[in-house]
Amino acid sequence: MSHYVVTGGAGFIGSAIVRKLLEEGASRVVVVDNLLTGQQRNLEEIRSRIEFQRADIRNYEEIAPLIRGAKVVFHEAAIPSVPRSIDDPVPSHEVNANGTFNVLRAAKEGQAGRVVYAASSSAYGDTDVLPKVESMTPQPKSPYALQKLMGEYYASIFSSVYGLETVSLRYFNVYGPRQDPSSAYSGVLSLFMTAVLDRKAPTIFGDGEHSRDFTFVEDVAELNLKAARAKGVSGNMYNGGNGGRITLNQAWALLQKLEGVTIPPIYGPPRAGDVRDSQADTTLAVRDLGHAPRYGFEEGLRITLQWYRTHR
Ligand code: UD1
Repeated sequence: MSHYVVTGGAGFIGSAIVRKLLEEGASRVVVVDNLLTGQQRNLEEIRSRIEFQRADIRNYEEIAPLIRGAKVVFHEAAIPSVPRSIDDPVPSHEVNANGTFNVLRAAKEGQAGRVVYAASSSAYGDTDVLPKVESMTPQPKSPYALQKLMGEYYASIFSSVYGLETVSLRYFNVYGPRQDPSSAYSGVLSLFMTAVLDRKAPTIFGDGEHSRDFTFVEDVAELNLKAARAKGVSGNMYNGGNGGRITLNQAWALLQKLEGVTIPPIYGPPRAGDVRDSQADTTLAVRDLGHAPRYGFEEGLRITLQWYRTHR
């Protein structure tokens, strides 16, 4: 087994994993991306050190030869966004559900060493208790949440039935450099950060008191590499969060403070499919994977703000 595959490797999270693999000395990294939401520029300075394959996970024949014999497949390719999956459910189902099945099937047929799967905290839905623990019954509230949960279940079944090594990581609202702020479906912090730099008011859906466990992308990339190496974890799912909880009002207040501006947000109606609060219990990931998030919220925001300031 010779190479690493990162599906969605030209995306925001995928490209951070690619960089981390190179940093840790990986000699062959294959990026599989159809450039639907991924961008070549996310790989700019490392382009000569990787193999880029423009391929679509919806097409099994296209991806199977690329995955065959891989040491680890990091499966990040997805159409993210809860509201996007509500407005346009067909593509998100085809990529997130069918595409994930294709990746797992290709890994199994091609005898890949392991698949580390990008699952989502949205699978929890609204729970009575915080933080959210892996043992809680999932209560998906949107097509996106259900599709991501299905991938997790499939990963576990591929482990128990076919002996494929899999680990699923439920991400909790990842943010950081290279997150694309250009769509209405973009992650809220990317929208907030570009708004504060442009001195514009952001829209907050609801009263702003809903909360998220915002997790810095570097910590997520690090966790992926740990999940690739950990022993005795096949078929399991882990929270990949930071463990904290920040309301949208707090996030906007901090950004205004960092920029030294006062811009009242515009409050709009709550968004369909939205989860009210989200916070990870990290106990299991710390114990089994050695998860050790290093970036506090303010530090992560500062780094990311600086990135948007210089790269837009
Ligand atoms: C969800 C998942 C997350 C997943 C992501 C993929 C949960 C808890 N999290 O994120 O794991 O990676 O989908 O896209 O389900 N908002 C505003 N104004 C805006 C944009 C968003 O107020 O302009 C609000 C939303 O209503 C929401 C929060 O900000 O309450 C976060 O939204 P978003 O960044 O889209 O992510 P989630 O839907 O929470």
